[in-house]
Amino acid sequence: MRLGVLISGRGSNLQALINACNDPNYPAEIAVVVSNRSDAKGIDVALDAGIPTSIVDNTKYSAGTQFEDILNQTLLLHRVDLVVLAGFMKVLSAHFLNNWPNRVINIHPSLLPKYKGLHIHERVLQAKEITTGATVHWVTPELDGGPIIASTPVTVMDNDSVQTLADRVLEAEHVLLPLIVKVIAESKAFN
Ligand code: GRF
Repeated sequence: MRLGVLISGRGSNLQALINACNDPNYPAEIAVVVSNRSDAKGIDVALDAGIPTSIVDNTKYSAGTQFEDILNQTLLLHRVDLVVLAGFMKVLSAHFLNNWPNRVINIHPSLLPKYKGLHIHERVLQAKEITTGATVHWVTPELDGGPIIASTPVTVMDNDSVQTLADRVLEAEHVLLPLIVKVIAESKAFN
């Protein structure tokens, strides 16, 4: 299964997928990494792994559908089967998503449906939650609102800071995302 990984930043989940794909028995490969930001560190992660990259800078396009159309064409060009949002900070509209029915997943650092959006770990600590986690879900036009595929719980410690909690949730993400991509790639419903 050919993956199109969409990023906007650091690329640690991308690195986790690259590591998984390095196993010859893993049922997926990364066909292209697309960033909407030219300064995303994840671009270097992809280049170091010899993966084709593309920058589709949303700020270069006026409001409307042009950005999503170019994104769509880029993914088609690389014959992508599954689109993986791994820290991609642009909300995709139905205009784009209708081209990829049940073909776009996202990793989010909370136990959805709780804590959609941004500043998740701050809000989790403020609410004195005892458990948080990471979730992979299908992407719909509603931000972080699509059907949940799987999540991993992470215990919140009394002495957690935003950083220590974020680090532990990120570790869980790095296990969950490659696992779910594997499950989808091996699923009869998908193929
Ligand atoms: C991750 O926490 C992911 O869940 C969220 O954005 C962050 C991306 O981190 N959507 P990275 O770029 O994969 O390191």
